[in-house]
Amino acid sequence: MKEKLLTSLESLQIELHDALKDVESPQGLQEARVLFLGKKGKLTQILKGLGKLDAKDRPQVGAKANEIKENLEEIFDAAELRLQAQVYEQAIAKDLFDISLPGRPIVQGHVHPLTQIYELATQTLEKIGFQTYSGPEIEDDYHNFEALNIPEDHPARDLQDTFYLPGLKWLLRTHTSTVQIHVMEQNEAPIRMIAPGVVYRADSDVTHTPMFHQIEGLWIDQKTTFADLKGVLTLFIQEIFDQKTQVRFRPSYFPFTEPSAELDISCVFCQGKKKNCAICKGTGWLEILGCGMVDPAVFKYVKYDEEKYTGFAFGIGLERLAMLKFGINDLRLFFENDYRFLEQF
Ligand code: DAH
Repeated sequence: MKEKLLTSLESLQIELHDALKDVESPQGLQEARVLFLGKKGKLTQILKGLGKLDAKDRPQVGAKANEIKENLEEIFDAAELRLQAQVYEQAIAKDLFDISLPGRPIVQGHVHPLTQIYELATQTLEKIGFQTYSGPEIEDDYHNFEALNIPEDHPARDLQDTFYLPGLKWLLRTHTSTVQIHVMEQNEAPIRMIAPGVVYRADSDVTHTPMFHQIEGLWIDQKTTFADLKGVLTLFIQEIFDQKTQVRFRPSYFPFTEPSAELDISCVFCQGKKKNCAICKGTGWLEILGCGMVDPAVFKYVKYDEEKYTGFAFGIGLERLAMLKFGINDLRLFFENDYRFLEQF
C-alpha cells in the first residue's frame, strides 16, 4: 500500500511534465493546475489513500507528498514564465511594439531666467574685482533713506512706495543701496563691493511687481573718477550683451550720488535701425541702470574721509536686464512660473 502511494506520487511529476508539453495558453495552464493541485485534483486523490495506511507509514508518505507538491508548484511556475516569454515573442513578431522606437525623454529642469541673469551679472562683476555682500531685507529708515542722503520729504519715503512694518520703525528695503551703508560702516576703504538681492515696493502693474531684484555696486578708493565708472560699467555691459553694444551716460539725479547718470545701451533688438521699434520706441537707446559718484554727504554719515576718498556707485534692475538679454516683453512672466515660458531658457 505504502509503496503504491509513493510510486503514484513520483509518477505525478512525470505526468505533469507530459501534460504541460502541449499547453500553450494561460487558460490551459490554469486547467492543468486544477487537474493536478485542485481540491479534487490528482494529488488530493492520491492523498485520500493516506488514511488507509498504517500509522507508522504515514509520516514518510506525508513528507513525500509535501515534497512532490512543492515540485509540482515549481513546474507550474516555470511553465508560466515560459508562456509569458512566448507571449512577448509573439507580440514582437507581430510588430505590436516597435523596440526601435526611442525611449521617452526624462524632462529636464531649467535654471529660471532671472537666476541665470543674477548669476551671470554677479560673476561678471566678481571677475572685474568686486566682492559680493548681502544685507538685511528688513531695514530701518536710517539705512534705507537717511544715510543715503534721501531727505525727509523725498517721494521715495512716501508710504505708497514703501512697505512699512507695523509701528513704522522697520520697512522692507526699497533698494539694495542700503548695503553700501552697512559695508562702509563695517569696513575701511578701499571698497569694491556688489550686493545682489531682493527689494520691495508697493507698486504693481504691467511694468512693476512688488518684489524685484537689484544689484548694487560700490567702488571707493583714492582718486577714483568718473572715468573709472565709465570703464567698469562699459566692460560690464559688453560682457553681458556683446562687444558691439554701445553705451551712453545721460545726466540724472539720485540723492546719494553727485554727479548722477543714467546708463543707456544701444537697442539690442534693432541697433537703432528701426524707426518703429517697439522696444526702444525708435530712439535707438534703452535705459539700463543708474549710477554716479558717491555724494560726500554719504561719506559723512559713514565717517569716511571725504577729502581722501572718492568713489562711484551703481544700481542695476535685474528683471529689466533679463528682459533685454532674453527678449522677454512682459515682466509678470518671471513670476507666473508657467512651464511653457520657463522651458524656453
Ligand atoms: N537705488 C537706486 C534705485 O533703486 C538705483 C541706483 C541709482 C543705485 C544710482 C545707485 C546709483 O548706486 O548710483 O532706484
